[in-house]
Amino acid sequence: MTRVQPVETNRLILRELREEDFDDIYEFKSDEKVVKYLTWGPNNREQTLHSLRKQIAFQHEENRQIFVLGVEVKETKKVIGNALFMVKDQDFKTVEIGYFINSNYWKQGYGIEIVNGLLNLGFNNMDIHRIYAICDVENAGSVNLLKRIGFRQEGHFIKNLKVKGQWRDHFLFAILEEEFKGT
Ligand SMILES: CC(C)(COP(=O)(O)OP(=O)(O)OC[C@H]1O[C@@H](n2cnc3c(N)ncnc32)[C@H](O)[C@@H]1OP(=O)(O)O)[C@@H](O)C(=O)NCCC(=O)NCCS
Repeated sequence: MTRVQPVETNRLILRELREEDFDDIYEFKSDEKVVKYLTWGPNNREQTLHSLRKQIAFQHEENRQIFVLGVEVKETKKVIGNALFMVKDQDFKTVEIGYFINSNYWKQGYGIEIVNGLLNLGFNNMDIHRIYAICDVENAGSVNLLKRIGFRQEGHFIKNLKVKGQWRDHFLFAILEEEFKGT
């Protein structure tokens, strides 16, 4: 699998990134609020361009494992976030997801739409068996979002990742294909 077909939700399109997305992406990757619980950032213009080009290069990889998609608002065409889909184990059909959104667009249900879009991509288009997400225990937005969608909490890691110089605790959440499809 190389490039993915765009995934449509009610108000959004999750699609492959393009270099023209730079300004929109820089807006949220340079925002301290957005990267508070992430291992990287805030990113300057050079770091943003470097990672964008690297992510675009993944699109041409054979046996691609990392899919970083742009989250575009259908009505305005603005890219308000990134949705990450990372194949962790091809044989066991396991994927890790990630997501971040421009802080001007928080608490409007976009997070739920993005994660549902990723679940659709994995379980309906890519024959994935299990999808998981790892988030900081204090990241209430992400914890609530995952619980709301039906992810189960499977783990609680203690001081497993260093974020902004501090060892942080994380929850592991997961959902199976059969749980998503209610079978
Ligand atoms: C986490 C994030 C994606 C949530 O996106 P969002 O679009 O604001 O989420 P939604 O509007 O879809 O809300 C999802 C649920 O979480 C709740 N929620 C959202 N932000 C919240 C917050 N800061 N505190 C508590 N609950 C919150 C909402 O109320 C909603 O629950 P409800 O439907 O029961 O009311 C967004 O805050 C973000 O980009 N954060 C920075 C990056 C990040 O931390 N990514 C996750 C890494 S694991």
